[in-house]
Amino acid sequence: MTEPTPQDELLRLDKVKKYFALGTAPWQRSQSVKAVDGVDLVVRRGETVGLVGESGSGKSTLARLSTRLLDPTAGRVSVAGQDVTRLRGRRLRPVRRKIQMVFQDPQASLNPRQSVGTILTTPFKAQGIRPTRAQLVELLSQVGLSEEHLERYPHEFSGGQRQRIGIARALAVKPDLLICDEPVSALDVSVQAQVLNLLADLRDELGLSYVLVAHDLAVVRQVADRLAVMYLGTIVEEGPASEVYSSPAHPYTRALLSAVPVPDPGAVRDRIVLTGDVPTPIDPPSGCPFRTRCYKAEDVCATTRPVLQPVAGGDHRVACYFPEPPAPLELSNPPLSERTP
Ligand SMILES: Nc1ncnc2c1ncn2[C@@H]1O[C@H](COP(=O)(O)OP(=O)(O)OP(=O)(O)O)[C@@H](O)[C@H]1O
Ligand code: SF4
Ligand SMILES: [Mg+2]
Repeated sequence: MTEPTPQDELLRLDKVKKYFALGTAPWQRSQSVKAVDGVDLVVRRGETVGLVGESGSGKSTLARLSTRLLDPTAGRVSVAGQDVTRLRGRRLRPVRRKIQMVFQDPQASLNPRQSVGTILTTPFKAQGIRPTRAQLVELLSQVGLSEEHLERYPHEFSGGQRQRIGIARALAVKPDLLICDEPVSALDVSVQAQVLNLLADLRDELGLSYVLVAHDLAVVRQVADRLAVMYLGTIVEEGPASEVYSSPAHPYTRALLSAVPVPDPGAVRDRIVLTGDVPTPIDPPSGCPFRTRCYKAEDVCATTRPVLQPVAGGDHRVACYFPEPPAPLELSNPPLSERTP
């Protein structure tokens, strides 16, 4: 097997932080929201990385930092081996050509006063290109829409169709990597699978890579090769999706997964119920960010933050002083009397 080159690393984040300053009165101590607090992440060509975590864990902020829609407070963002952390304005064009974003709410992310044709022209213009009508029609056909839709406006479409337009806009400049921030969570359950299937087909046809942000583990389970689990602005576990799913090492991942239904209808997972609220990212706990809700916390967990370490020597990594041993998440078969026929 050949060694991966820096160009194979479509995206690399090194110790990336984003602190949002909060407006405070002059006599008060200045405060900030530590939305992303020291994240390392690599996305390689051809892979789909699922990024999961509860609401407020920093997933959208990380997505926007990765596409350089936000400036990081600290750390480094590299795209295809090039440091792009401090690029601005027109110098960001090459980044936009390689990485595009699909947003959660297609209703909010499409300008209601622009026709589909105008919406699809915008990313070309940002690259200084004037697209032909044929190029716009081809984009629409890639997402299952057609030429007749070019002159229509966003309100004339269903939610699923609007998200298809959002995906077509992201594909316009032929990016290598799409960062999809909860691309189906605003859609009816009935059309979620269609949009996920479209993303999977596009990956196969165009050789795309994805970061797929979701708080619904069942959504990423369908498509992710690798999984990264976020908690309070940090990645607490990361690795091949099948391994993280079958043998979660971090107590938080274990709790999240214990709530996900398993395919075998006869088996149920022993449910770990998380108690307590997610602490505020303005004043996160010392040491391990999860320690206030962890069923395994000990004194050491309050002193120093654990860093990601390999589990059993592979590329499955966990940030925990007392990770769960590599073993399947326990399944138990309920007594026959409790099973539904
Ligand atoms: N512009 C901003 N100014 C101040 N705080 C912000 C800003 N954007 C996000 N935050 C805060 O940063 C934290 C992380 O937010 P983010 O939207 O990244 O979370 P998320 O994981 O995407 O959540 P969700 O699942 O609800 O979309 C939250 O506490 C949020 O309130
Ligand atoms: S480091 Fe300690 S508190 Fe944090 S997840 Fe591991 S056991 Fe729990
Ligand atoms: Mg979000």
